[in-house]
Amino acid sequence: MDIDKLPLHVGVIMDGNGRWAKKRLLPRKLGHKSGMERMIGLSEHAKKSGVKYLTVYVMSTENLVRRPEDEIEGLFGLIRKYFTAQAEKLYARGSGIKIIGDISALPEDVVKILTDAENASPANPVFTLVFAINYGGRREIISAVNRAVERGEKVTEENFARLLYTAEIPDPDLIIRTGGESRLSNFLTYQSAYAELYFTDVLFPDFSDAEFDRAIAAYAARDRRFGRA
Ligand code: FPP
Repeated sequence: MDIDKLPLHVGVIMDGNGRWAKKRLLPRKLGHKSGMERMIGLSEHAKKSGVKYLTVYVMSTENLVRRPEDEIEGLFGLIRKYFTAQAEKLYARGSGIKIIGDISALPEDVVKILTDAENASPANPVFTLVFAINYGGRREIISAVNRAVERGEKVTEENFARLLYTAEIPDPDLIIRTGGESRLSNFLTYQSAYAELYFTDVLFPDFSDAEFDRAIAAYAARDRRFGRA
């Protein structure tokens, strides 16, 4: 593939874990576990494909307050059990991680796992897996505006991006949503202004490497004009 046509940053809204489990008469939490396993596989595949940043939507600000407590606890359970070891595996292969979102609202031990892992991330990784956890695009924008107000800074397009959680990360070129819905659900709201969007009915645990390649091929076939004629 033409390297110019390869997205540098891909965002993934990993929807459909619950339905995947339901179809198999399994509890929803097993759907999330399968989703997590697929997410790990996909990040390795994205890296091999030449993608530099993969941002995965693990939990939105809305999920945290609107999902049943046992489901949210299930997601924390996955973080408690797997996060540290998986992060170390990524570091051993030259990759890094970054966390975006308001993690201060999460249980203390989960915050520690996430911040310890992020602090151990290598300085110049060849690939970065970005976890959006208790992330909301609107909240991110509002807190950036408040930070500028507190500093007495006038907001401009140039300085605003640096006030967001994604300060050092380029905007996403492509956002994929699995699970059949065609909306962004508060994901990378500011950063997605020029992103190409790809929606598929495939449920996230079934979103194979080949499905990812199909999304990349669809992206490569598009004409990104950024407002040009
Ligand atoms: C939405 O699908 C998915 C989520 C709310 C969670 C996504 C998280 C993972 C895939 C992995 C977790 C990773 C870590 C690091 C813990 P849904 O379950 O709402 O699907 P449904 O629409 O079919 O019910």
